[in-house]
Amino acid sequence: MMKFNRLVLLFVLSTFTFSAVSADTESISFNDGWKFSKGKMVNAQKNDFDDSQWQSVTIPHDWSIEGPFDTKYNARNGGLPVFGDGWYRKEFTLPKNTQGKHVSVTFDAAMNNSNVYINGHLVGHRPFGYIAFEYDLTPYLNYDDKPNVIAVSLSPENFSARWYAGAGLYRNSWLDINDDIHVAKWGTFVSTPKVTPTYAQVKLETKINNKGEAASTHVRHVVRNLAGDTVIETPNIIHKLAANSQKIVTQLFDLANPILWDTENPHLYEIETLISTNNVIVDRYKTPLGVRHIEFKANDGFWLNWRRVQIQGVCLHHDNGPLGAVANHRAIERKLQIMKDMGANSIRTSHNPPSPELVKLADEMGILLQVESFDVWEIEKRTVVNGYQKDFAEWHEQDLRDMIRQNRNSPSIIMWSTGNEIMEQGVEDGWKVAKTLTDIAHDEDPTRLVAAGFNNPNGAIKNKLADEVDIVGLNYKPTLYDDIHKAHPNWIKLASETSSVTSTRGKYHFPMEKYSTHDSRYVTSYDIVGPVWAYPPDIEFEFLERNPEVMGEYIWTGFDYLGEPTPYGGKDHSDRGYWNHDWPARSSSFGAVDLVGFPKDRFYLYQSQWTDTPMVHVLPHWNWPTMIGQTIPVFAYTNAEEVELFVNGKSFGRKIKGVDKASLPVSFKRWDGENRPDYKTPYRLRWDVEYQPGELKVVAYKQGKVVSEKVIKTAGEAVQASLSPDRNIIDADGYDLSYVAVEVLDEQGNLVPTAENKIRFFVEGAGEIAAVGNGDSATVEPFKADYRRAFSGKAMLIVKSIKGQSGEIKISAYADGLNITPITISAK
Ligand code: GAL
Repeated sequence: MMKFNRLVLLFVLSTFTFSAVSADTESISFNDGWKFSKGKMVNAQKNDFDDSQWQSVTIPHDWSIEGPFDTKYNARNGGLPVFGDGWYRKEFTLPKNTQGKHVSVTFDAAMNNSNVYINGHLVGHRPFGYIAFEYDLTPYLNYDDKPNVIAVSLSPENFSARWYAGAGLYRNSWLDINDDIHVAKWGTFVSTPKVTPTYAQVKLETKINNKGEAASTHVRHVVRNLAGDTVIETPNIIHKLAANSQKIVTQLFDLANPILWDTENPHLYEIETLISTNNVIVDRYKTPLGVRHIEFKANDGFWLNWRRVQIQGVCLHHDNGPLGAVANHRAIERKLQIMKDMGANSIRTSHNPPSPELVKLADEMGILLQVESFDVWEIEKRTVVNGYQKDFAEWHEQDLRDMIRQNRNSPSIIMWSTGNEIMEQGVEDGWKVAKTLTDIAHDEDPTRLVAAGFNNPNGAIKNKLADEVDIVGLNYKPTLYDDIHKAHPNWIKLASETSSVTSTRGKYHFPMEKYSTHDSRYVTSYDIVGPVWAYPPDIEFEFLERNPEVMGEYIWTGFDYLGEPTPYGGKDHSDRGYWNHDWPARSSSFGAVDLVGFPKDRFYLYQSQWTDTPMVHVLPHWNWPTMIGQTIPVFAYTNAEEVELFVNGKSFGRKIKGVDKASLPVSFKRWDGENRPDYKTPYRLRWDVEYQPGELKVVAYKQGKVVSEKVIKTAGEAVQASLSPDRNIIDADGYDLSYVAVEVLDEQGNLVPTAENKIRFFVEGAGEIAAVGNGDSATVEPFKADYRRAFSGKAMLIVKSIKGQSGEIKISAYADGLNITPITISAK
């Protein structure tokens, strides 16, 4: 949702030069020119406080990602300083013609326990770190050249999350300047009560604030399609507004032959609402509109635009790896693109409200969302002693309402979730809280269903929480689908969290066996190892095929995330939740993709189930100098019918997917009630091969024809590295990013899969280093640095543009013994 202001204001901030605010300007970015300091402060909210020694920052800013990593912090939270006190201050001036207007500030989120002050006055307090909030600053503002000071204090606590939450003003902030009469922030609600292939009825509710005298106002809406053509103009309807009042006006209109919003073609209309008094437009407000028909069937899953769509979903935490919690548009876009490339069509925003950027990108990219509010309700989760339970009683209603109000116009959102694995499943009147939350969600948005993710279905059923949600989410319970469906045929069911298998990119441990932990603190990439509740992706595929009434799954997780280094670190009860027993293991291994976005083998296993474009993948890598003559299991993942394996040119025969099942050394007794110590998966193809250096080649066939091939060769000595940017041109806006992948190669250009060379980076010209990383889950090398070791042959340099500087960005890299050709990208 965007806010438009008709006034041309010259808006001046003391720390940088201002641009004019014209009639077509959106909410004004309030990100620049902040000062930041950690620590408890006295009087830092006051205008005359001396912040000259504070650090200059641009938000979004996450103070904890800069570290340093330290064992005194908690590996469960990434081993980073996610708690403590921090202050932000910003001085700005407003021109005289702002006087008489209404000025508000919005923070898309603040981590957490924020207090916001303007010119020394407290304007609001917000404990929850994932929710956006707006405060009216008007009564306390100075105009002309008299400075205003906005100050924000934050005090995130230790033991407040089960993952890395970050700390600071980690999402965007905005300023809105309005006339007396204007559309309230998040003030529209668009829905489509009727959708057929040839017609849609659109309902738009608009909340209009009048902060002045009684007046009448005209309201009309213009609907434009993606190409910008006007498709509807509603009549200009007059409304009387009482003095100092708020009024909701409702407009219904018909859209003939709507272009539907779909995962393939996410067509978005835009509704512009124009508010005028005395023939002068006083406010413009934009609302996205996606016309789609969604339906959930208790016996046949999810339907989008009258066709069944299997939920091929991923759970994602909010961090962006080396950038920390910073909500960076490009980082999020890239993350979603990588998930789409894997074949994912849906994201569960586990376990908290997402950034506006993620939701908008999902609208634009055709990704279905389950937006989740909480990981905890009233009852504490083990050692998360400072979790949301402390604020639940006072804040759950406002937080949940705000989450829905801020997001409900997005067509990508197909359902809400009120909770993940909440402890109330185990208590007799747990249903009451479930009901309260579902009722709030229905009240705020009668158009969408409400889910919750249950890991204790017996409890959730017995204590009737399952009766109080619209969609019963089952976490890690494929073997119960049949029974639950038989007992509750009318429930709509979702595999809300699945698999939780762990792996480390490029690491393979022999013999291939299931273990709990490995001395290296990494996890074999054969995709067989996980905590006790986990199981390989294959098991879920199998059960979902057998149980089409379950609408699909959200795997844990799409990307690795900071914190929760399972199976390393510890147990929840040890040392009050410190997970530092296997330091420096400090981030998750659950991802199909590593922390910097390099796919692991599991990425291809999902791709083989979730996509149609022919692909084949082979593992492990083929550099095993100490294993010559020994047997190594080789796997192919494909969406084709058959695969033939060649080792050093010799065929090992074709195997047929689904027929030639691959045995995996794991037992899943706990999950299927049958004892299957030698599980045979129909989703992978396996050959046991005597290792000799050389070449592995897989050839995939469909109806006898070659459709895809992959070759990996034993690499020689590392002599060079390549720099491959994902984008050659970036915006010179100070936010945009290019991810430069570094690969260590031998003379012939083969990836050296064991290379760990330390690489130093130089970025000159119109860009700078935003962060570095390599996907290693057990290192305490800093993310803010100009060097990185390669990990399994690869590293990542993230380059950021500099605001207002266009031109070339020269990127060079140096490592002992490696020849690396510099590259140039540009900022425009
Ligand atoms: C689930 C939980 C997730 C994550 C996962 C790890 O039970 O909902 O947040 O902790 O386990 O397997």
